[in-house]
Amino acid sequence: MKALVLAGGFGTRLRPLSCTRPKMLFPIGDQPLMDWTLKNLSQGGVDTVIMAVNYMAEALVRYLGPTKFDLGIIYSREQRPLGTGGPIKKARELLDGEPFLVLNGDVISDIDVRRLIEYHKAKGGIATVALTPVSDPSRYGAVELDWEGRITRFVEKPEKGLEPSNLINAGIYVFDPKIFDYIPDGRAASIEREVFPVLANERKLYGFEFHGLWTDMGIPDDYLKANQIILSKYEEGVRMGEGAKVDPAAKILAPCYIGPGAEVGADSLIGPNTTICDHVLVGKGCRIENSILFPGATVGDYSSVKNAILGENAILERWVKVESGSLIGDYSMIRDGVTITDGVSICPSKEVSESILERRQVM
Ligand code: GDD
Ligand code: MG
Repeated sequence: MKALVLAGGFGTRLRPLSCTRPKMLFPIGDQPLMDWTLKNLSQGGVDTVIMAVNYMAEALVRYLGPTKFDLGIIYSREQRPLGTGGPIKKARELLDGEPFLVLNGDVISDIDVRRLIEYHKAKGGIATVALTPVSDPSRYGAVELDWEGRITRFVEKPEKGLEPSNLINAGIYVFDPKIFDYIPDGRAASIEREVFPVLANERKLYGFEFHGLWTDMGIPDDYLKANQIILSKYEEGVRMGEGAKVDPAAKILAPCYIGPGAEVGADSLIGPNTTICDHVLVGKGCRIENSILFPGATVGDYSSVKNAILGENAILERWVKVESGSLIGDYSMIRDGVTITDGVSICPSKEVSESILERRQVM
């Protein structure tokens, strides 16, 4: 079985972190998001993955190479962004012949793809969409499902209050090769806006409801949720990389990941739901909770980080507080005593010496 992964989006809602790396390579515990997806596909019986790349293609090619987790990886590169439908049509020659899987690369889920494929074959439609329930369907593609499992309506980003149900498109599909006839050639196209509504009208679109782990990585809170989902899978609770040093007077609450060469000072309290990447330095008396610290970040003594993300080599001096969905760009420097809260994002290499307490981007 082959799978195509849509991995070329810009990750606009995760800027500035996505300015320097594609979101598929954002770290979660001891591996980036994409590794988790590829492992799940390999376990599900997929042998070849076609990686549809555009934005930051080089970074993905360099990281994944030609094979990983027993999967062959082929890259389909776009000259310009083709949306969510165009890349599927572009890869036609690589996929034609039998049903294949398509996945949004920014989704994390433990769905059993074998069951999804069996269900697709049993229903005999042109496409089967995996569906998951959420509390706010307006951020996604929402569907109306009939008693036979047929999607009778597919509405992408429905207006609040007008959602057909709380079941949404999980971004995981099985397509029959007939799908190619529904996608326009040689231009960007949206599978959600241009293809699914047509298939729904023709009664050839099915939905496969599943109740496992699921989140996509759209906004910082989603990323923190994905982190929580993956860390909760660690049987050992706290996973430590090689050469990680935790002071005996520090405390780590599971689930948590502390990467190779990272250091945590005395009286610091780390976790739960925290990824500390390699070579991060955490001083003494710090509090870090429900957060992700990219490689090489530094947290000075008595600082706290809660529900926030620190970019690569970002530095917090002492007594700094970073909270509530805030993003600190790579290589930025937050000076002594500064508080940053309420969804603030700080651009890379920025120096901040005064507190920022309301949602905005600091350029
Ligand atoms: N190759 C390529 N080229 N990939 C792209 C492009 C492109 O031009 N544009 C977007 N993608 C990839 C993104 O990298 C992502 O993995 C996937 O396509 C979906 O794009 P998003 O921009 O993340 O869409 P969304 O999250 O707003 O909505 C989609 O996902 C939801 C579930 O997470 C839709 O499919 C919704 O219907 C769905 O509910
Ligand atoms: Mg998305």
